[in-house]
Amino acid sequence: MRDVDVGSVWPLLRPEVVVWAVAEYEGTRSICPLGWTMRTSISPPMMAISVSPQNFTHGLMEGSGAFVLAYPGRELAEATLYCGSHSARDSDKFAYTGLTPLPGRQVAAPVIGECVANLECRLVERFTTGDHSIFVGEVVAAWAQEDPGALLCLVDASAGYETVLTDERFRFGVVRR
Ligand SMILES: Cc1cc2nc3c(=O)[nH]c(=O)nc-3n(C[C@H](O)[C@H](O)[C@H](O)COP(=O)(O)O)c2cc1C
Repeated sequence: MRDVDVGSVWPLLRPEVVVWAVAEYEGTRSICPLGWTMRTSISPPMMAISVSPQNFTHGLMEGSGAFVLAYPGRELAEATLYCGSHSARDSDKFAYTGLTPLPGRQVAAPVIGECVANLECRLVERFTTGDHSIFVGEVVAAWAQEDPGALLCLVDASAGYETVLTDERFRFGVVRR
């Protein structure tokens, strides 16, 4: 064990499951890929996500008081890269990706038909942590594929993962089974 820079530790903490925060407010909607997410409560079921206020989706979640957490599988790596490198301020992410928005049962945010699972979340709290905001949501409805495939993750080049897509910033893959 040795003393290191904080930044050199983050790449060691793979895999990181990718999740999309999906939100809609006043006729505008977005898909915001995230790495920073956690379960926070069993009963009621609750989730927390960390989102930069610079992201357009931040305002959609604040305005609507709701978000969906949609979990992409390996075939949605390209869509993840697109949605994570463009803003809904100037791009219609649904039109570009061809993804299927289904109406949420309990919240005013769309569920993504192609994802492995979706959690509908009602916003219960938002607070600032450094340069991001933590949004805490109660999970009020859930969806899952009958035959769910592997979850898309941020991975490294080691043998335990199968790389699906890379660019200069990200390596997407799945855990080998
Ligand atoms: C794999 C991946 C993980 C990301 N994780 C986060 C995150 O945890 N928090 C965050 O605020 N942005 C994260 N981003 C960046 C946002 O997805 C990105 O800024 C997006 O374009 C915002 O879109 P919007 O302006 O429509 O909300 C991530 C992007 C990618 C590709």
